[in-house]
Amino acid sequence: MTVDSNFEVDLQGKKIALGVTGGIAAYKSVEICRRLVDAGATVIPILTAGALNFVGAQTFKALAKNEVITDLWSNSDPMIHTSLGRSVDLIVVAPATANIIGKAACGIADDVLSTTLIASRSAVVFCAAMHTEMWENPSVVENVETLRRRGHFVLDPESGELAGGDIGVGRLAGIDVIMRTIWELLEQTQDSPKVDISQQNTQVSISSHNQHFRGLRFLVTLGGTREAIDPVRYIGNRSSGRQGLALLNIAARMGGTGFAVSTVDVPKSLGFEVIHVETALEMQEAVFGKLNEIDILIMCAAVSDYRVASSASTKLKRSGESIQLQLVENPDILFEATQYIASHDLSVITVGFAAETDNPLENGKAKLIKKGVDLLVVNNVCEDGAGFDTETNAVWILDRENTISRIDLSSKESVAEEILKRVFKSIYG
Ligand SMILES: Cc1cc2nc3c(=O)[nH]c(=O)nc-3n(C[C@H](O)[C@H](O)[C@H](O)COP(=O)(O)O)c2cc1C
Repeated sequence: MTVDSNFEVDLQGKKIALGVTGGIAAYKSVEICRRLVDAGATVIPILTAGALNFVGAQTFKALAKNEVITDLWSNSDPMIHTSLGRSVDLIVVAPATANIIGKAACGIADDVLSTTLIASRSAVVFCAAMHTEMWENPSVVENVETLRRRGHFVLDPESGELAGGDIGVGRLAGIDVIMRTIWELLEQTQDSPKVDISQQNTQVSISSHNQHFRGLRFLVTLGGTREAIDPVRYIGNRSSGRQGLALLNIAARMGGTGFAVSTVDVPKSLGFEVIHVETALEMQEAVFGKLNEIDILIMCAAVSDYRVASSASTKLKRSGESIQLQLVENPDILFEATQYIASHDLSVITVGFAAETDNPLENGKAKLIKKGVDLLVVNNVCEDGAGFDTETNAVWILDRENTISRIDLSSKESVAEEILKRVFKSIYG
């Protein structure tokens, strides 16, 4: 198998069962089926009764050029309940409803997909997609944890617009992310030497689906701080927190736990203790409260350099005259944190983020030294599709040995994977 930088995978010789369940994202599994077939895989589509309300079996039959399995009882194979699960290299459930996640976690086998899941020793990836309320429901959270504990891969949904116009976490992960996950899982289960999927050809066989960070505790800061001007107005920035959420997502998938110090909502299902903050001073206090308890510090938040010297206690009103805001400098939390770590002889890998608008590499190199971090992730926020409030990012990762790695424009999840692989390398060489 090979993979190129756009995650166009070669899956020749692989047999994949594609389970499709009754979620609104079922239409996207048509494209997943096509991509798998184009990549050379043999695809066996298994559609639940719920899925058939959203998509037609005929579409999958035409794309997969294979029989579509929709029930246990009208099949030419007399042992369909066990033969499917035994014969495939991987089962991909996309989309995975709250229902199939619950059934798999509880060992329920009441239709052909759930029976195949229980009768298989193959790797399984569940690509969850559902409304935010369902995803955050405690029973779904526990079921996801159960599946992960048993070694299954649950690909978290992304945030964005959901069916019915709602906004939140729940959208099926991007198809490139799903294809990459499939490739990585298959890559792990075959004996041939690992192929490096980073674009730096560093030949490191680190997979974002291995529990490399099990037992290690992270602290990730994310979102943009807000500095009050008065009770209703603030100085803020355009950070959406998406890159930080992607880091938490992948860190959790790789077995990491710890803390998220955040100005934006963080799904409980990720398993991090969330400390919600708003201002730079609150973030400083939260970070310093946990520095002695962590192994990896990733400061991804966009922290305001200045705050209003004294914010008004009541709403500022028009007076017919101009007003002046006096700004005072905020603490440099990253610098102070690396100083504290060094002076207290703590063993913490530190990763900083720098948003640059000009000379990103020059400024980045200077910042790496000045801040005393192990790794610095540099964004040119003026680059199309990179930086604040976008679904994608393009960065350089700089380290103390003066190595510069470029990650071209890709999803924030992919960027997070590459960053965490570098973190892993920094820890274990
Ligand atoms: C219009 C509509 C959209 C739905 N979308 C989802 C969804 O995105 N995710 C989900 O978990 N359930 C969703 N459901 C509920 C599932 O269809 C329902 O739980 C069903 O029992 C799932 O069965 P299955 O997992 O066997 O396919 C939706 C239901 C309807 C009517």
